[in-house]
Amino acid sequence: MEQNKQDYQLETLAVRAGQERSQFNEHAEAMFLTSSYVFDSAAQAAARFSGEEVGNVYSRFTNPTVAAFQERLAVMEGAEACVATASGMSAILSALMALCSAGDHVVASAGLFGATQQLLGTIMPRFGVQASFVAATKVGDWEAAIRPETKLFFLETPSNPLTEIADIAALAKVAHARGILLVVDNCFCTPILQRPLELGADLVVHSATKFLDGQGRVLGGAVCGAKKLTEEVLKFLRTAGPTLSAFNAWVLLKGLETLKIRLEAESAGALQLARWLEAHPKVARVYYPGLESHPQYELAKRQQKSGGAIVAFEVEGGRENAWKVIDSCRLFSITANLGDTKSTLTHPASTTHGRITPEQRATAGITDGLLRIAVGLEAVVDLQNDLNIGLSLI
Ligand SMILES: Cc1ncc(COP(=O)(O)O)c(C=O)c1O
Repeated sequence: MEQNKQDYQLETLAVRAGQERSQFNEHAEAMFLTSSYVFDSAAQAAARFSGEEVGNVYSRFTNPTVAAFQERLAVMEGAEACVATASGMSAILSALMALCSAGDHVVASAGLFGATQQLLGTIMPRFGVQASFVAATKVGDWEAAIRPETKLFFLETPSNPLTEIADIAALAKVAHARGILLVVDNCFCTPILQRPLELGADLVVHSATKFLDGQGRVLGGAVCGAKKLTEEVLKFLRTAGPTLSAFNAWVLLKGLETLKIRLEAESAGALQLARWLEAHPKVARVYYPGLESHPQYELAKRQQKSGGAIVAFEVEGGRENAWKVIDSCRLFSITANLGDTKSTLTHPASTTHGRITPEQRATAGITDGLLRIAVGLEAVVDLQNDLNIGLSLI
């Protein structure tokens, strides 16, 4: 793109930003499937290795296809820089390893994705980084959990799977007043629906595996924010190695191109489905930020462009009935992924959140009767008919 990136709308950036054509002048982005790069001379190799000369050395550090994805996502998030990683979890791990040292403390929302909870609750403490978990929605609880050694606030909003909305701007204010950094997992909204950096977050992390790819093809992750922070992330990444592959970066570039139209259609479908579920006699409760009944509906309206594509709902009768609904479906995919064009249906208590303790699940509000839908691009009426098979058996 030749003009200043700020002159363009998000959907234009999603299609155009980050591409640098090679000498072949290809129209689509080139895929650089190479592990290393050739130097003109021994002196150039030395200069590249020392950092004296800017340029590619080895694809664990830099790759032109990965760089194109990083640049595109950075401008979409309104970030100065982005570092891509092999998966969402490696993005979160890299951010924590880059910013925290032994003795530091993290305050995190209790309703985090299960693996993130495991990482913060059981793995990081082995390296001297402790975490406290608080209710995402209670700003006062975050403030009360701060210790002198608190380095980071970490949150997901909307949370997975209960779609709780944390007030990013309010939490950024609390964090910054105490010199603490705010990291937001923007996986559910993506920059199409929510731009946390504009609301005061210091870093955004992504599981690009989800909506950014959007078609269930590859794993990927990203950390976006100010260069002085992403450079720390890159230092960890280039040494430790959870780097995004060029092939996956290419797939993700193509995913970004259709992100807006997919997410808008999926969000519209999710709202329609959530309203239908809310009126269904066999459904005890629906969690969707676009419903007026959602406890943070007003905040969601301010902070997000729409409710997003994730809907959670509860049936009476615990796991037996929840599994009955799942096992009766013929259309929904029973799979752990979300953000796909194919709608997915999950029982969080026995899958994504199955490795955390029953007490942690109870604190996070994940009951045995809870089901999570990630709405794809099928006709909503077909999804309703599919769910009705199992719901009518309860
Ligand atoms: C909110 C959220 N963050 C992070 C992750 C981890 O991403 P990945 O599976 O790409 O490692 C997930 C995965 O489901 C997620 O839902």
